[in-house]
Amino acid sequence: MPDYQTITLKRRPGVATLTLNRPAKLNALNQQMVQEIGVVCDELRGDKTTLVLVITGAEAKAFAAGADIGEFSVINSAAAGEAFALRGQAVFSKLAALDQIVIAAINGYALGGGCELALACDLRIAAESATLGQPEISLGLVPGYGGTQRLTRLVGRGQAKRLMLTGDRLTAQQAYDLGLVEQVVPAAELMATVDALADRLAGQPPIALAQIKHAVDEGADLPLVDALAVEATAFGRAANSEDRLEGTAAFLAKRKASWRGR
Ligand code: COA
Repeated sequence: MPDYQTITLKRRPGVATLTLNRPAKLNALNQQMVQEIGVVCDELRGDKTTLVLVITGAEAKAFAAGADIGEFSVINSAAAGEAFALRGQAVFSKLAALDQIVIAAINGYALGGGCELALACDLRIAAESATLGQPEISLGLVPGYGGTQRLTRLVGRGQAKRLMLTGDRLTAQQAYDLGLVEQVVPAAELMATVDALADRLAGQPPIALAQIKHAVDEGADLPLVDALAVEATAFGRAANSEDRLEGTAAFLAKRKASWRGR
């Protein structure tokens, strides 16, 4: 297993948990952390035994308080800035493209790159005490790790522009009201809630799990007629699996299905 410096990765059957671990800097995403998240994605790609990845922050106050502002000094030209954004985007896109369902357990500040990391996940569950936002404008910057696009797709153009143009921070409840997080729970219950959901999803038929994720993501950017074709392909893949035969046989026999992931 790779020797991670800025994150930890723990595994249990069906579920991996990636913990952002730079507590002294509120888990700010430095280049090494971004690179290590990419290595975790490489580890998980093709790992058929892990169906869910949970991402959370080690410091009680923070999921991730943004890209590491201390590293911005290396950006000394437009090209360097663009390259910086592209490096982060490549890793977050790799994360979003995993077959695993990725759940962000947002335990505290999810600002800037931290919010963008959560946006690249499939599901976001936030502690009541969490704070979310894209404050890049207050630094004279623009979200560069996918925020202008993924936030817009999640909450719509108007709210996305309002958040990014003001840089305002949202409480977890406000984020929920906008559709930026899917669930808000008391802080003390966050990990138990996320772990229970992760275990539940890890008990679902793997092919159907991944096909639903990819059909939603691929179809969301397409005209309806093309998106429906994406759905039909996903349906075909799931319908052609042994698990579909097992699922229907188990239903008819009134027993619990035993999924095999093929
Ligand atoms: N990059 C680098 N370091 C960061 C950071 C970031 N995005 N966010 C926090 N830190 C560091 C602070 O510099 C401080 O380090 P120090 O103790 O060595 O001085 C440490 O984390 C603790 O942060 P601090 O600001 O003292 O905590 P706080 O509770 O007073 O405030 C925040 C918390 C999140 C409101 C504040 O840290 C903040 O605004 N961070 C930047 C958020 C941001 O703009 N993110 C987008 C970046 S593009």
